[in-house]
Amino acid sequence: FTSTFALLFTTAPLSHAVSTMSSKKIHNVVIAIAMEAEAKPFIEHLKLDQSKDFFNPRSPFQAYQGKYNECNLTVITNGKDEVHGTGVDNVGTIPATLATYLALDKLEVDDNKVDLLINAGTCGGFKSMGAEVGDVFLTTAVANHDRRIPIPSFTDYGIGKIESTNVPNLAKALDAKMGVCTTGNSLDAHDIDHHHMKENEASVKDMEAAAIAWTCEMHKTPHFGLKVVTDIVDGDKPTQEEFMENLGTAAKSLQEALPKAIEFICGKDHGEL
Ligand code: ADE
Repeated sequence: FTSTFALLFTTAPLSHAVSTMSSKKIHNVVIAIAMEAEAKPFIEHLKLDQSKDFFNPRSPFQAYQGKYNECNLTVITNGKDEVHGTGVDNVGTIPATLATYLALDKLEVDDNKVDLLINAGTCGGFKSMGAEVGDVFLTTAVANHDRRIPIPSFTDYGIGKIESTNVPNLAKALDAKMGVCTTGNSLDAHDIDHHHMKENEASVKDMEAAAIAWTCEMHKTPHFGLKVVTDIVDGDKPTQEEFMENLGTAAKSLQEALPKAIEFICGKDHGEL
């Protein structure tokens, strides 16, 4: 018993260290983008083909695949709302979780284990944390700002903070800022959300990142967010107006940053990012 006990406690942390410091080159990348307008310029730029049979046709999710240099790329989007019949993009944590889970599961079953998932999209930025409209942010960690469970044993689960893959060299290459992104299912924010964003030192806020990171953790897939700022959360303009005003510019900025990120990442191992 003693030796088994000793073996368990000496080898388990080591094997974890080995797996996280794996030198496996990155060749298989998924890019999860919630909104079609955010994804379209990138899909067209890289000439990715729509994969009609990737998701079950009863789901609204869409997949686009192709190669970029040494990489197999799969872009997934959350499709349009048919449940309520509004036809708008399926933004928020529920569709993001489900689309990510199905994509990672499918690629794994097809023996195409995903090396890295990038959650790309728009976000609100905090000018108090140095964010400006048009900035590209790479996440250092994600958390939820609207999951308040005031029962001590559930509090940390509610916040659900998850570290992102460390990408300092990529940030330099893209001239991007780095910071925490917190997630909630609302575009606007109330005082209690602000309290939780501050507690988590959020530089940016979005509606998907924490949910996608949680799903990636389940699949042991490294992940980070690449987010372009469309609006200033601690500014004077109403979020929805500033968001709509800057969505086109942000999509273009995303279209510039994402191919550069892919070019930098493909063929490297995680330690080089
Ligand atoms: N996406 C773009 N701006 C946002 C904001 N202010 N909150 C959540 N998601 C966003």
